[in-house]
Parts: sequence; C-alpha cells; structure tokens
Amino acid sequence: MLNKIVITLMPLVPKKIIHLVAKKYIAGDILDDAVRITQDFAKQDGMTTIDVLGEFVTSKEEATAEKEESLRVLDAIKKFDLPTTLSVKSTSQGLDIDEEFAYQNIKEIVTKANEYGIFVRLDMENSPYTDKILNFYRRFRAEGLDNVGIVLQAYMRRTEDDINSLLALKPSIRLCKGIYKEDSSIAFQGKEEIRENYKKLLRLILNNEMYVGIATHDEMLILDALTEIEKRGLSKENYEFQMLLGVREKRRDNILSQGHPMRIYVPYGTDWYGYATRRLKENPEMAGNIFKAMFKFQ
Ligand code: FDA
Repeated sequence: MLNKIVITLMPLVPKKIIHLVAKKYIAGDILDDAVRITQDFAKQDGMTTIDVLGEFVTSKEEATAEKEESLRVLDAIKKFDLPTTLSVKSTSQGLDIDEEFAYQNIKEIVTKANEYGIFVRLDMENSPYTDKILNFYRRFRAEGLDNVGIVLQAYMRRTEDDINSLLALKPSIRLCKGIYKEDSSIAFQGKEEIRENYKKLLRLILNNEMYVGIATHDEMLILDALTEIEKRGLSKENYEFQMLLGVREKRRDNILSQGHPMRIYVPYGTDWYGYATRRLKENPEMAGNIFKAMFKFQ
C-alpha cells in the first residue's frame, strides 16, 4: 500500500534522493565502472552484459552518441577480453525517430561485434516496439549476423506465438517477466498468471532446444528452472541464469557457486533516471528506502 503511494508520488521525489537509493542498480557514469564490475564478477566465474543507459531518444545526434558509446563498449570488451555481451535498447538507437536509421545504427554495432566475436542482445521494450524489434532480429539473421539474440516477455499474451514463429531461427532468448505497463488486452496482469506463463514458455523454449537466459529474481521461477535443468540434464551450453545488478546478490552468488552459469545486467551512463525508477518500483522495500534517504538529506 505504502509502496503504491510512493510510486504515484515518485515524480515529485527529488532526483538526488532517487539517485541515492537507486545507485546500487547502476555501475556508474562511465564505461570504466562497467568494466570494473565485470572484472570483479569474473573472479567468481560470473559473466555480465553491459548496457549503455539511454532510451526513447528524440534526436539523431543523441542516437548517434549512444551508438558511438556502444561501439566503445565493444572495443573495451575486446581489449580487456571480458566475459560479457552487449545489451542494446532499440529506442536508444533512434527507433522512435526513424526505423531504418535505428536499424542501420544497430547493424553497425552488431557487425563490429560479429568481427570481434561478441554477442549482442536486443532488449525488449514496450508493446509499440515489439514487432519492430523482432523484425530487426529477423533482418540481422537474414543478413547472416548470428551473434544477436532477443528478449521475450512472459507477461505478453503474444509471446507463445512469437516463440513458435521464430522456431526455425532457433534464437537465443532471454526470458523475463516484462517491466513496462501494458493493457490487460495484450498482457497478463496477475502475478500468478505471469508466473504460469513464464513456466510454460520456458518449457516451450527448452523443448525446442533453444538457448535460454533465465532472467528472473523470483524464487518460485528460479526453483522451477533448476528442477527443469536437472530433469532434462541440461549442460552449460543450453542455459544461463540472469539477474540485474544490485538485486538478490546473495542468491545470485549461491546459484553461481552451485555451478550454474550466471550473468548480470550492468547498465552505466548518466541517463539513469528511467532505468532507476523502474528498478525502484520493483523493490518491495522501496518506500522504506526512499524515506530513509529523505531523512539523510534533512
Ligand atoms: P519480481 O519482480 O516478482 O521479483 C521477485 C523478487 O525479486 C522480489 O520479490 C524481490 O525480492 C526481488 N526483486 C526484484 N526486483 C527487485 C529490485 N529492483 N530491488 C530489490 N529486490 C528486487 N524487462 C523487459 O521488459 N525487457 C527487457 O529487455 C528486460 N531485460 C532484463 C534483463 C535481465 C538480466 C533481468 C533480470 C530482467 C530484465 N527485465 C527486462 C526486467 C524483467 O522483465 C522484470 O521486470 C524484473 O526482472 C523483475 O521481475 P522478476 O522476475 O525478478 O520478479
């Protein structure tokens, strides 16, 4: 209840308070921060995926700057031989401005990554972009760029059909619940029905021998996935777990120590507000944390 009130009032909360409570979800302002976190996590045999913060950009200049930064990430991955991939938001590359412009930007990134042997994951955004992002993926594969993967959201009613329509391509899929606010006509709303769909989709992916990134912090879904992995005798070539930086770190390290591949999503950059507020809204202790941070500023 209190969390709901704070979510409604969040736009009124000063940015410095949001930053104080949300900074654990973000590597820092610069690429070196993401490199450092990747190198630290690699010491435990963990992997990361690096994301340049930014989304829904409205000018070609901003999109070009985002692309240039992503290209710098690729250079850093190669230079330091990091166990990481790149995650890209299509709206950061100009999808809202001009679809073909965004495609060409991402293609430049994916092509360079392909030369370097680096994998690129297209993050999934809200429903107006779903078809466009999936079409980008299909175009890349048609052009022989196989170092690219997608994200599918279990809350979307369409996802089962999307998986079935992509079977021939055997995509690498990150399966998550989905974070954006969507209408009940197109997306499941209840916690249980989203969970049930997640389990069903995970089985569909595994039955069709596709690589899956199990991207969740939900204990019930983690336990369900562990049972499936064991039952099917899956090897590390078939799956990995994925979590967000700063979330359920003890459980993350525990899964890793049991020998399962684990990747964390490591965003960095100065355009942190949208990402940070989405993470705060998912934190069950969010209201308390914001109140505590407010007192610090008194
Ligand atoms: P849920 O939100 O129910 O969380 C389960 C439990 O985890 C909570 O009860 C709490 O204990 C803990 N928890 C979760 N979030 C927390 C937080 N912020 N702070 C503290 N505790 C927290 N979405 C999308 O639409 N497109 C995308 O491309 C991606 N990409 C992506 C990559 C990766 C690696 C992950 C892990 C997630 C995404 N997501 C995403 C986000 C995803 O859709 C979803 O919103 C979040 O993962 C939260 O859902 P859970 O499955 O963790 O369940």
